[in-house]
Amino acid sequence: MNSIYLKAPATSANVGPGYDIFALALEEPYDEFELSLNNSDKISLEIIGNTQNIPIDISENTGSLAISELFKRKNIVQGVHIKIIKTMPSGGGLGTTGASASACIYGINKLLDLGLNNNELIDFARLGEVASGGSPHADNVAAAMLGGFVLIKSYNPVDVLKLEIPRFTAVLAVIKKSQRTTRGFITYEIGQEKLKEQMARCSRVIHAIHTKDIVEFGNAINVDHIAEPVRGAAIPSYWEIKQQVLNAGAYGFTISGGGSSVIAICNDNNAQKIEQIMKIGFSDNPHFVQTIVTHSSNSGILEI
Ligand code: HSE
Repeated sequence: MNSIYLKAPATSANVGPGYDIFALALEEPYDEFELSLNNSDKISLEIIGNTQNIPIDISENTGSLAISELFKRKNIVQGVHIKIIKTMPSGGGLGTTGASASACIYGINKLLDLGLNNNELIDFARLGEVASGGSPHADNVAAAMLGGFVLIKSYNPVDVLKLEIPRFTAVLAVIKKSQRTTRGFITYEIGQEKLKEQMARCSRVIHAIHTKDIVEFGNAINVDHIAEPVRGAAIPSYWEIKQQVLNAGAYGFTISGGGSSVIAICNDNNAQKIEQIMKIGFSDNPHFVQTIVTHSSNSGILEI
């Protein structure tokens, strides 16, 4: 096999209280990828479609960086051309960088028959994320790789559990970050009371997934004392719009991954109303791109 064609989904990381340890896969949007082996000893990269400002320097793109880190660690010398067929809006916390890193590692593992298991795939893919937010967080890459709801059981060594999720509606307001990453502003120094609540909420999220209870799930993701206070403060009218969306019957509302996109969990019956509230609420924000009504998905990387 000399080439492989793949599809990788958008993912929403953190899922409320699970900073860097929870993420879920979405049906749409997604990007497509073609990886082809060649006789050079170089990694090359091409982006077509909605190219935005996505870097094509090998060390600055999450997909090519992940492959080059894998090659370095495994002493592999191999020419590979990566083509990214970009649809997803980037730079807004929809896990697009994680999708690229996961697809590239998944593809190269297949093409070179490396026999990596899921945890190893995720561990290599997360190295690519350094090109984006400067940190090798595994949540987005894990959800893109495996689909469903992922729970990072351990970072050292990386050990990820995929849980199947019931199909629910998610409304996204895609908002680009005004700066490359806001991770540096987030602190774990939140005090005993908030830490207890954070852990309780994480337990509740996992319980809701196990019992396939979407109302409980939405409720559980509504509180986050780590990332949401910092990132919410950077999104004009975030708290007012959250309240309006919850009043309209959404089960939960939080920031998607590193933001500034937001995600509401609801059902098909009130999705349009919630989408409208979000569209109007964020319309004055110069970084607002669009709303997307989508669903949770149990599919990760797919060969197409
Ligand atoms: N857990 C990461 C963060 C996800 O919050 O920065 C980035 O999409």
